[in-house]
Amino acid sequence: MAKKSIHDFHKMVAEKEPITYLTAYDYLTAKMVEKAGIDMILVGDSLGMVVLGYETTIPVTLEDMIRHCQAVRRGAPNTFIVGDMTYMSYQVSDEQAVESAGRMVKEGLCDAVKLEGGGTRMASRIKAINESGILVMGHIGLTPQSMGQQGGYKAQGRNSQAAVNIVKEAKRLEEAGAFSILVEAVPSMVGKAITERAGIPILGIGAGSYTHGQLLIFADMVGLYDNFTPKFVKQYANVNEVISKAFKQYHQDVKDKSFPIDSEHTYKMKDEEVQDFLGLLEKEDI
Ligand code: KIV
Repeated sequence: MAKKSIHDFHKMVAEKEPITYLTAYDYLTAKMVEKAGIDMILVGDSLGMVVLGYETTIPVTLEDMIRHCQAVRRGAPNTFIVGDMTYMSYQVSDEQAVESAGRMVKEGLCDAVKLEGGGTRMASRIKAINESGILVMGHIGLTPQSMGQQGGYKAQGRNSQAAVNIVKEAKRLEEAGAFSILVEAVPSMVGKAITERAGIPILGIGAGSYTHGQLLIFADMVGLYDNFTPKFVKQYANVNEVISKAFKQYHQDVKDKSFPIDSEHTYKMKDEEVQDFLGLLEKEDI
C-alpha cells in the first residue's frame, strides 16, 4: 500500500474515517505496525521510558531519536512517520528547532516532526520549521517534557478556564502552521471543542472519542510496559506475561536439559563424516 500523505489525512477527516496512530521504536515492531495497516507511526520520545529505561523523556537525545527513527523507517517503509523532537532540541531558538527538525527528516527519514507546547510558546518554532519545508505536528494538554511545570503526569484542562486556554492554544498552533495537533490527557469535552474548531487533523491520546484519530503507546496497549498504565490505555494483549513465561520456560528447559534436543535443534553430519571426525581427533591427539 502507498504511504499516506497529509492529503489522505485530510480526506479521512472529511469522510469521518478515524485516523489510527501508534508508537514504534524499532524495526520489528514497525514491521508489525505497517502490516496491521496503521495509518501513522509516532517514534515518540517515550522511547526514553519504554526502551531506554529512563524515568522520564528528558534525557533522550536527538541522536537517540534519529537512530530509532531510522530503524522504524526500515521496518515501515510505506507508513507516514512522525518523529518526536527531544527536550532542548527546539526550545532554545527557531534556528535550533529548524536544524533539529532537519536532522530528523534528513537523517532519521521521518515524514514530519512533533514538538510539545501551546501556540503561545511554540508559534515561532512551528512557523520556522514549516518555512523550511518540514511538516510539524503540535502537542498540547499533558506535555511530558514540561512535567515539572504541570506537576507530574496529570490530566490537563479539568477546570473551565484551563480548558478554554487549551482550546485557544490549539487554535494558535494551527494558525502558526501545524499540519496536525496531538492532544494528550484532557477531558473528552476539551478534545471535542478543539476538534470542532479545527481545520487540521486533531489526534488524541486520552482526549476522548471526538478527535479525528487516536494514538496509543505500543508498549502500553500490548501490556509490555508494566511500570504504570495510564487510565486512557486499552490493553489489547498481555505480551509481558507471554514473553516472561517463555523466558522462564527456556531457563527451566536448559537447567533440566530438555533443551536443546539434538535430533531437533542441531545440525546434521553424515555418519562417515562423524567417523572421520572422531578418527581425526584421535589421530591428532586433540
Ligand atoms: O513520546 C510519545 O510517545 C508521546 C506520547 C506520550 C503522546 O509524545
